[in-house]
Amino acid sequence: MPADTLWWRDAVIYQIYIRSMADGDGDGVGDIAGIRSRLSYLRELGVDAVWITPWYPSPMADGGYDVADYRDIDPTFGTLTNAESLIREIHERGMRLIVDLVPNHTSHCHEWFQGALAAAPGSRERQRYVFRDGKSPDQPPNDWGSVFGGPAWTQVTEPDGRPGQWYLHLFAPEQPDLNWDNPEVRAEFEDVLRFWLDRGVDGFRIDVAHGLVKHPDLPDLGTGHEDVLEPPDRVHHPHWDRDGVHDIYRSWRRLAEEYPGDRMYVAEAWVAKPERLARYVRPGELHTAFNFDFLRCSWDSAALRSVIDTSLHALRGVGAPATWVLSNHDVTRHVTRYGRPHSTRGSGPQRELIEPPDLEVGTRRARAALLLMLALPGSAYVYQGEELGLEEVEDLPEEVLQDPTWERSGRTIRGRDGCRVPLPWSGVAQPFGFSLNGSQPWLPQPSHWQGLTAEAQQADQHSMLSLYRDALRARREHPALGDGTMSWVDGVPPDVLVFRRDPGLLCVVNLSESPYPLPEHGRVLLSSEPVQNGKLPRDTAAWLET
Ligand code: NOJ
Repeated sequence: MPADTLWWRDAVIYQIYIRSMADGDGDGVGDIAGIRSRLSYLRELGVDAVWITPWYPSPMADGGYDVADYRDIDPTFGTLTNAESLIREIHERGMRLIVDLVPNHTSHCHEWFQGALAAAPGSRERQRYVFRDGKSPDQPPNDWGSVFGGPAWTQVTEPDGRPGQWYLHLFAPEQPDLNWDNPEVRAEFEDVLRFWLDRGVDGFRIDVAHGLVKHPDLPDLGTGHEDVLEPPDRVHHPHWDRDGVHDIYRSWRRLAEEYPGDRMYVAEAWVAKPERLARYVRPGELHTAFNFDFLRCSWDSAALRSVIDTSLHALRGVGAPATWVLSNHDVTRHVTRYGRPHSTRGSGPQRELIEPPDLEVGTRRARAALLLMLALPGSAYVYQGEELGLEEVEDLPEEVLQDPTWERSGRTIRGRDGCRVPLPWSGVAQPFGFSLNGSQPWLPQPSHWQGLTAEAQQADQHSMLSLYRDALRARREHPALGDGTMSWVDGVPPDVLVFRRDPGLLCVVNLSESPYPLPEHGRVLLSSEPVQNGKLPRDTAAWLET
């Protein structure tokens, strides 16, 4: 077990989307056995910790973010004993483990929800969720929309067979929202936190951390569909980022501090501005929160500089570290985003409607973006497969799509499956080592990924994988990198970013069209493309010793 040093202030954390990491039991779906078989890979990559997406029993209406039992493991992924062994093995390798907590909603198969369906309106069972009568017999209680499309309310059939109350689901109908005004819900989640802390996990990623508390009157929004990945443009929203969520996090912080070993939280909170995000990481609340403004930012120097400045400024006010992230399982992979002239975070409109990305440009920028991200003060997340330079798979056949967005949008938005395609590990044909016995993976892999397998990149010192390994090693070893402060070097062209980390390191990122002569320096510690005649080519970043 590594030493306790406020590790989360500058850790690099690898996100495992468990269904797609590695399949140890040969059913075509990733699992705990698969992860255990890849721990040496993670250690060699050089990450400090892993975050595993939900592994609990689930009917998988939303890839496991529909939890039926918070204290067990889905049989597709393994057993609780396997999970305990994994926690131990991760610690033995000097890494840490963060699990995913999904407190906004349960699965409709959770025993609480099944109990609520069987119980009467107004019962204790219904008060664990958000049940209401409709505005009229066939009209939902308000106009809120589901993030995945369609209304956020579903009408139930009462036990006596009559059409009855409606329940709230900000996501899929299979994900009923819990009622966080109910002390029983709060007590239950404190118990769930203890369950996993007692098993030695080092932290929790909190799903939809900005959504738990709703306006008590559930007023109409007046806007219809809500996109969780686009932050609300108003601060007083009836269900996002309400002040009431902070009481919950203050109590969770106290709870974590009862445990030895520097346990931590990271919030998934899509909010309007950096100052709102900083509220989640005030003293006595959560430790960290993903910086989605950075992820959403296009490849543009002024925009990037502004996001970096406003984020650091807001966080400095509360003493929390920044938490940088370029990709995750909800957004288009950044090789693809950066390969489009106007990169957006996108979760994939229909294929015919989007311009094809230039993956060569996207890959080049992704390499530079890595050096930018890892040179910034704070901690960083790496989404599985980005170290292999994987792109978004935008041409998955329609019949394999599983993201609820696809059906809920009336098959107009493909959703997030394209960033969840199982990893290519080795070999020249599908499943590229993903399934140990050669079974076909749950989503098909592009055939050209044979050039992107971990095995193929291993020995190539110019590969994306080698860049990630080199950068993570240099970041660990160099005293200037990680937590701390940075200062911009001014007097450089507008399309070039240069900043200093002390002691003795300059990060230079050339976002312009032409090569940029490097400023005075000692050794080039690392560059995302070769430096040519003292010049940094376009879409390239370098770390320079000074
Ligand atoms: C955010 C998760 O990252 C996403 O995958 C999920 O669909 C929603 N929360 C709902 O739990």
